[in-house]
Amino acid sequence: MARPKVYVTRIIPEPGLSMLKECCDVEIHESKDYPPSREELIRKVRDKDALLCLLTDKIDAEVMDAAPNLKVVSTYSVGFDHVDIPEATKRGIYVTHTPGVLTDATAEFAIALMFAVTRRVVEADKIIRSGQWDKPWSPYFLTGLELRGKTVGLIGLGRIGLAVAKKLSGFDVKILYYDIERRWEVETVLPNIQFADMDTVLRESDIVSLHVPLTKETYHLINEERLKKMKKTAYLVNTSRGPVVDTEALIKALGEGWIAGAALDVFEQEPLPPNHPLTKFDNVVLAPHIASATIEARQRMAELAARNLIAVLRGEMPPALVNKDVLKVRPLEKVKMI
Ligand code: GLV
Repeated sequence: MARPKVYVTRIIPEPGLSMLKECCDVEIHESKDYPPSREELIRKVRDKDALLCLLTDKIDAEVMDAAPNLKVVSTYSVGFDHVDIPEATKRGIYVTHTPGVLTDATAEFAIALMFAVTRRVVEADKIIRSGQWDKPWSPYFLTGLELRGKTVGLIGLGRIGLAVAKKLSGFDVKILYYDIERRWEVETVLPNIQFADMDTVLRESDIVSLHVPLTKETYHLINEERLKKMKKTAYLVNTSRGPVVDTEALIKALGEGWIAGAALDVFEQEPLPPNHPLTKFDNVVLAPHIASATIEARQRMAELAARNLIAVLRGEMPPALVNKDVLKVRPLEKVKMI
């Protein structure tokens, strides 16, 4: 049998690449930092059986049409909003992702952002580096919000939201959560967590942290109306996807003091330009989409992305299939190549 042809759109960490090379002919876009151009992506997928892509690659009908042999799109990410799932399913293309392996890294970073913005860590650092620490210790200097006794609101209680809730349980906070599905089993084991509707979560929380996937339903979920519901003393944390928050509305909210601040790892426009209005606020902490950026998580993501891809080509159920309906369109035995 011919070895499957695979295109990998970036140099991903080991052991992912070696796993692929063991059983497939692998062509890599030889860059650690930049994705292939759209033209290059379309050109490279033409003869490929499998594609390992990143969240920076838009995999839509045009890309799929260019790749008549494509059997699997394995994304090196938990989010899959950059892949047109219905189009893939229609064509019998398996789409897989990397849930679970980056949950802790992302949850840890969401909590890091909560502390960074409420305890003004970034402002403090800037003050020293710019020579502005020019007075002795003072009771009022850089005071922030103490987390103990406060309410943290989680919008979305999937894998990452739940990990945030668990990790926060040592900080003496009350947790309110909203999700489209009430998680009764979680409520019975985590004593400090309560379900509430979205308005209540927004109205009562001192920190609102977003943990939803980007879908048609969650696009601009946090808009003007919802930002106005938050306390003036509350902070917004976003480690999910940029378009979940309406950036224009957030800028207005920060400019007019509807909320106390924000900590953002994701943006509607990435990379965020250095002169973007969000960069003008001292009460905003900005990070360049790095919530899952631990060495451990990135290696596990590469391994899982490779395992997913290889499983499909072996005609086996991949560990993390997104579009289960594809099994009815093109059964696994029909995509088996190795
Ligand atoms: C990162 O944002 C991911 O979806 O893995």
